[in-house]
Amino acid sequence: MATGRGQFSSKIGFLLAAAGSAVGLGNIWGFPTQAANNGGAAFLLVYLVLAFVLAYPALMAELTIGRYARANVITALSQLHPLPSLQKTGFIVGIAALSVAVFILSFYSIVAGWMLAEALSPSAQLLQLHSVAGWIDTQSFSRNGLMCLVMSLLTIMIIARGVEKGIEAWSTRLMPALFLILLGMIGYVLTQTGATEGLRAYLVPDLSRLSDPTLILSAMGQAFFSLSLGVGAMLIYGSYLRDTDNLPRMGAAVTLLDTGFAFTAGLLILPAIYVAQAQGITVFNNEGALIAGPDLIFQVLPALFDRMGVAGSWLALAFFALMSIAALTSAISLLEVPASVAVERWGISRPIAASLSGGGIFAISLIIIWQFDKLFSGVVTLTTVYGQPLLGVALCLFAGWVLHRHLLLKELRNGHPEIEQSFFWKVWPFYVKFICPTLILFTFVQSLR
Ligand code: PHE
Repeated sequence: MATGRGQFSSKIGFLLAAAGSAVGLGNIWGFPTQAANNGGAAFLLVYLVLAFVLAYPALMAELTIGRYARANVITALSQLHPLPSLQKTGFIVGIAALSVAVFILSFYSIVAGWMLAEALSPSAQLLQLHSVAGWIDTQSFSRNGLMCLVMSLLTIMIIARGVEKGIEAWSTRLMPALFLILLGMIGYVLTQTGATEGLRAYLVPDLSRLSDPTLILSAMGQAFFSLSLGVGAMLIYGSYLRDTDNLPRMGAAVTLLDTGFAFTAGLLILPAIYVAQAQGITVFNNEGALIAGPDLIFQVLPALFDRMGVAGSWLALAFFALMSIAALTSAISLLEVPASVAVERWGISRPIAASLSGGGIFAISLIIIWQFDKLFSGVVTLTTVYGQPLLGVALCLFAGWVLHRHLLLKELRNGHPEIEQSFFWKVWPFYVKFICPTLILFTFVQSLR
């Protein structure tokens, strides 16, 4: 069945690719500031529990469906059951997942382009190209469009090369680089005045916050976005996994890598914010909350780097290179969703499929850049707040109800022959059928109030 399809050549190749998809702007940017504003380690604790109790089972649903069907999200979901009505439903859910992936990528590559611009600007400064740096530093349609184009072309080039030579090879190169840059930066920032206060804000839990419902909501949203759930990205990566690999263990490793990375990023961001405060930069807003969102990344941190002279330029370069790499390895998993549909359903070659889908998504990005105030936050909310959790529920239901239990077991036995005796098999099938969808829906409905 798998002939002609790509496949990850090793466990580590899959792990780094899936972790590359999971680790992105959500980990380095979203997680640390959410933690800081939601009771520090109390948020971390809730996040870890939700990541393993809710997001991990949903991730397993995607990986298992993917490897069972060995196909793109639309074909996979429409083949899980012989009943035509279930096949039709699968087809529709597949189209929905594909659309959410397309729209997430269209805003994600705009943000990735900003990161690239911020990385190129200190490079231009270091090379004494001051007017170039000035152009890169100023928001404009042409700057944002060009940076987004560069990120989109990089994404297309990697996806055009296929699973092993593209996704796996580049994830294996970029992920260790990402981790080394992060560790290097933590080492430097922790020596600066104010850093310990940041560590305290991050690591000392304010347990009174544990009962706060918004904390649980934010942590769930964060966990779903961070593990790349609901859009078929993990499903298609799962479809390239070898039969000899142990699925529950692989999924657990990806969840651990993702949460571990988010935690480690917090060790950089929180101390950096407090170092900035020690330098006299405003880091709290009028309500006393830490400045989060774009202002943190594009004002607070650059202001800090600016005050550090030449060391600051290198730090800025390292930090935004870190962000660009993290964004790229996530973007490729998003582009693989439409590209694999085009290859497998239309029978076109991979380079053409990657260029067509990547080009189409870039056109959507350009429209968003052009009508930024009207479109950007709407697209983000529609895809990440509504799309991802709802599709997460749908995918759990497909794994739990549509795919027959004996087929599920048969698939999971590949790579784990004794799975029937494991704790995982005793809990997960029931869990993914009832508990996961209920909990996700419950949290989702709460978030709409
Ligand atoms: N997980 C990525 C991040 O944290 C974002 C993403 C979402 C990637 C959905 C793929 C699919 O930035």
